[in-house]
Amino acid sequence: MSEILSRDQIEGRAAGETQVRRLAYSDLPNVISIERRSFPTPWSLAMFVLELSKPSGICLAAMRDDELAGYVVCSRYDQVWHLMNVAVSPDHRARGVAGALLRRLFEEGRNQLPFTLEVRVSNHRAIGMYEYFGFRSAGVRPRYYHDNGEDALIMWLD
Ligand SMILES: CC(C)(COP(=O)(O)OP(=O)(O)OC[C@H]1O[C@@H](n2cnc3c(N)ncnc32)[C@H](O)[C@@H]1OP(=O)(O)O)[C@@H](O)C(=O)NCCC(=O)NCCS
Repeated sequence: MSEILSRDQIEGRAAGETQVRRLAYSDLPNVISIERRSFPTPWSLAMFVLELSKPSGICLAAMRDDELAGYVVCSRYDQVWHLMNVAVSPDHRARGVAGALLRRLFEEGRNQLPFTLEVRVSNHRAIGMYEYFGFRSAGVRPRYYHDNGEDALIMWLD
């Protein structure tokens, strides 16, 4: 007998489903693995533990086929959300995983507070993604990244 699927199930299967949930301490080994493949100066385990321990922060995990595909870490500083880190496993990129994480983050952080972030001026893919979600450039922090002296673009979403 053939299985009857809802429209959401059909679309989910076609696109490959991404499920977003809270990031847990038990995810951190997989987070570190993605982090090391994503950044020239990856965060340490201690930095993720510190962010996860902050009660006011929002840390989310994106799962695909029971595998950690990506994560986002966002901290609240006074009246501003600071998007500290977002990365997707190279095996899962360009499939809407970061988009799913950011949409959920904006839902959870929607309390009229603005979001800000810094991004390497050469990271065109990430800058394009942030602009797609409405972030706008608001200046540069010169030589912000110590590994190569690259400038950071400061972006805001009000
Ligand atoms: C940047 C990164 C997180 C993107 O992750 P991803 O899962 O491949 O991104 P997605 O496929 O979800 O694309 C994000 C959204 O932005 C849109 N987008 C991406 N680049 C775009 C561009 N140049 N112009 C317009 N829209 C763009 C996509 O269409 C998508 O929207 P959708 O969900 O509505 O389809 C991923 O490439 C990565 O981990 N890079 C290394 C780490 C990094 O640079 N992190 C950012 C540091 S500031």
